[in-house]
Amino acid sequence: MTANTYTLITGASAGIGKAIAERFASEGHNLVLVARRLPELTTLADKLSHDHGIDAVPLALDLSDDDASEDLIEALGDRDVDIVVNNAGVLSSGSFRRMDRDRIESMIELNIVSLTEMCRTFSERLAERGGGRIVNVASVAAFQPVPNLAVYAATKAYVLSLSEALSLELARKGVTVTAVCPGYTDTDMLRGPVQEAAGKIKIPDFTVLEPETVAKAAYKACMRGDAIEVPGIGYSIVMATTGVLPRWVKRRLTRLGTGT
Ligand SMILES: NC(=O)c1ccc[n+]([C@@H]2O[C@H](COP(=O)([O-])OP(=O)(O)OC[C@H]3O[C@@H](n4cnc5c(N)ncnc54)[C@H](OP(=O)(O)O)[C@@H]3O)[C@@H](O)[C@H]2O)c1
Repeated sequence: MTANTYTLITGASAGIGKAIAERFASEGHNLVLVARRLPELTTLADKLSHDHGIDAVPLALDLSDDDASEDLIEALGDRDVDIVVNNAGVLSSGSFRRMDRDRIESMIELNIVSLTEMCRTFSERLAERGGGRIVNVASVAAFQPVPNLAVYAATKAYVLSLSEALSLELARKGVTVTAVCPGYTDTDMLRGPVQEAAGKIKIPDFTVLEPETVAKAAYKACMRGDAIEVPGIGYSIVMATTGVLPRWVKRRLTRLGTGT
């Protein structure tokens, strides 16, 4: 790490992204923090700079905007980004046939189109600088279809597939790509739409991870260059064991688990 080297984190104003920013700062990385809410980013940047003696730059951007990646590159100036964490994401829950077009499009726009554009932009820059790391935050929902979260789970399956393919494609260029797949994590996303989607089924407390647990696992996996990380011992065992099951068995288990 040099004084001009930065880790760029999207969705850093809250939840998992904020915890990832705290983890990278505690390990001595300079940061560029991206999200729409500037006051939250500025407060976090000031605190992390003060606590860890790093440089932290808040950058207010709506990543769903068409020209977001151009604006981002311009704002970076001559800062050298060696790690990119694509964490920003949105979730809408509920019956697919009642979901309006805007909610579906906003998930596809941020979770897929914007993340892909970030990977496209930075894979070339990281390769040109001789190496780097990309972390894409997917979800355990990437591993199987989820009723009432159908579009969200499909966007995360895309993130997982893209990340695995890029981890192979970019390896020779010295660029690692890690898909982080958290289960339920205690953030605004869980307290709002995920809880709604769960309906009458209460999400058991023991299945809920702290954002700091996810951030710690994400940091370690990123620095090791692992292709896939499922944070939390419970989730990693379940994903490893259910991964070998035929898809029809997984659908039955999902039906039982979601009460559909
Ligand atoms: N919580 C869970 O149970 C869970 C489980 C698995 C995976 N995940 C994934 O983890 C990631 C983080 O989720 P979270 O739980 O931390 O959610 P969160 O607390 O709702 O945070 C979402 C972050 O994304 C940012 N964001 C949203 N729309 C944006 C946009 N258009 N442009 C730029 N930034 C935007 C938000 O900041 P602003 O509002 O300031 O823009 C915020 O910082 C997501 O990709 C999510 O799918 C979450």
